[in-house]
Amino acid sequence: MAETIVEVKDLVVRYGTRTVLNGVNLAVKKGESLAILGKSGCGKSTLLRHMIGLSKPKSGQILIRGKDISEMDEDEKIEVLKKMGMLFQSAALFNSMTIGDNVALPLREHTELEESTIKIMTNMKLDMVGLSGFDGFRPSEISGGMKKRAGLARALAMDPEILFCDEPSAGLDPVVAAGIDKLILSLKKAFKMTIVAVTHEMASVKIIADRIAMMHEGKILAIGSMEELRGMGHPVIEQFFNREPDDEEIDRQRYLMA
Ligand SMILES: Nc1ncnc2c1ncn2[C@@H]1O[C@H](COP(=O)(O)OP(=O)(O)OP(=O)(O)O)[C@@H](O)[C@H]1O
Ligand SMILES: [Mg+2]
Repeated sequence: MAETIVEVKDLVVRYGTRTVLNGVNLAVKKGESLAILGKSGCGKSTLLRHMIGLSKPKSGQILIRGKDISEMDEDEKIEVLKKMGMLFQSAALFNSMTIGDNVALPLREHTELEESTIKIMTNMKLDMVGLSGFDGFRPSEISGGMKKRAGLARALAMDPEILFCDEPSAGLDPVVAAGIDKLILSLKKAFKMTIVAVTHEMASVKIIADRIAMMHEGKILAIGSMEELRGMGHPVIEQFFNREPDDEEIDRQRYLMA
């Protein structure tokens, strides 16, 4: 059995009186690509933020290779988090900086590398995501799909062992979306990266995922391969796998594309 690299134990998250995560348990195995699936607003981004240590759990634990993040000292935490890359839902690029500087940021923050080396590494990452030559552009000067790819290049800057992606292909046209999904899959194959991708696009799930964790009502309802989940015959899972996007979701996609 593959080693567990990240484990979420009994994670509870409340905002005010609203409970968003109500006892999430999840183990990510080394080398797998796990898709976290669930409807809009169910707490997928919240879960991811906790998994990468950006938010501190009030109740429950996040273990990285068996060690609780909250019990690590600052230096240890930084070392662990350096090995985790994150592509944010909104790409989260700094508009005041060029694409090149956005991608170089983690290297400038976390390494003592020479500027000339940083430039080479940055260009290499941009090349990997098909953005070579765009280092001098600003985020406002590139398309939505290119922003996602630039966000991916930044997530890859430190050669992470685990790549977390929040909706890597949402809001993009199907061809561009499939391109990003395939790119993520190729990273997994080439670098044996562990992938945790939040999505609600079945097309993405089919391309990326070895296993699927289905979130529902603040918990992981089921986890397994596509066939295993389908075999459960659970109405919520069936609805997810068979549905057409509703009006709310179409509006949201348009909003994300704007
Ligand atoms: N910082 C916050 N303060 C208050 N409420 C929050 C905060 N962050 C998230 N929430 C709420 O928690 C719920 C889950 O949000 P989250 O962004 O994790 O959902 P999601 O599953 O990622 O949704 P989507 O698919 O639309 O991205 C939402 O109802 C949201 O309003
Ligand atoms: Mg989200």
